Amino acid sequence: MTIKPLVIGNWKMNLDFVEAVHLGQQIGVLLKNRPSEHTEIVVAPPFVDLRSVASIVDSERIPIGVAAQHVNPNDNGAHTGEVSASMLKRLGVTWVLVGHSERRSMYAMDDAAVALTLRAVVRSGLKAVLCVGEALDIREDGDHDEWVRRQLRSALDGLDERFAELVTIAYEPIWAIGTGLTADVAQVHAMMTHVRSVLTPAFKESRVLYGGSVNAENAASLVAEGRADGFLVGGASLKAESFLAIIQACDDCYALKR
Ligand code: 13P
Repeated sequence: MTIKPLVIGNWKMNLDFVEAVHLGQQIGVLLKNRPSEHTEIVVAPPFVDLRSVASIVDSERIPIGVAAQHVNPNDNGAHTGEVSASMLKRLGVTWVLVGHSERRSMYAMDDAAVALTLRAVVRSGLKAVLCVGEALDIREDGDHDEWVRRQLRSALDGLDERFAELVTIAYEPIWAIGTGLTADVAQVHAMMTHVRSVLTPAFKESRVLYGGSVNAENAASLVAEGRADGFLVGGASLKAESFLAIIQACDDCYALKR
C-alpha cells in the first residue's frame, strides 16, 4: 500500500443534526486520544446536518473532511428540493459521493446523470467519490467485471484529465451493502486489480475503496490482502468506536507496508 488510505463514513439517512454533532464530537475525542497518523477521514452526513458538522469540525479542529451524499449537477434554478455544488462548497463541504447504488436504484440516477454529476462536482473544485458495483444476479452470472468496467468508462470517458486527482473510486457490490455479507478478500482483491486496470494512467493516484458491510473485524484483511485503499463505510460508521477501529486497521496496515 503506497497511497495513503481513506475511510469515509456514509451516514445515509440517519442522525438528525443534534445526533450528528454528537457523533462528530465523539469521533473528535477518540481521534485526540489516538490520532490517525496516515489515514484520511471523511464523514458524509445528511444534507440538513452538513452545516452543523462542518462547524464543529472547524471550531474543534477535528481532522476530518465533510462530504455530501449527493448533489444536483445544475448550478441553480428551478430544481425544487435539490442542492448545488456551490451551495455545498459554501458550507465547508469538500467531498461529494456520486452515483451511490441507492441513488441509482431508488432515485433513478442513470449512467448519464452520474457522468453529469461527476463533472459538476470536480468542476466546482470538490472531490468526488464515484461509486460503482454490481447486483447479485450480475455477480452470479460472472458479469461483474464487465459491469463495473462499463460504469467506470461511462462516468470517466471524456472527463478532462486535469480533474483526475479529484476522483476517488468506491467499489460497492450491491449484494454486500447493509447485508452483513462482505465480499471476501479474494473477490475484493480481484476487483481492486480490475478497477485499477480500467483506469487510465491519469488516475494512477486515485484511491480505490471497498464498501459493503465493512466492520472492525474484517477491515484489516480487506485492506491488507484485499488491497483496498480504504473504505466507504455505512452502518459501522454510525458508532464512533467501530468507525475508529476501521480507521485504525487502515493506519496499522499502511504503517506496516510502507
Ligand atoms: P454498509 O457498510 O452498511 O454495508 O453500507 C455500505 C455503503 O453503502 C456505504 O456507502
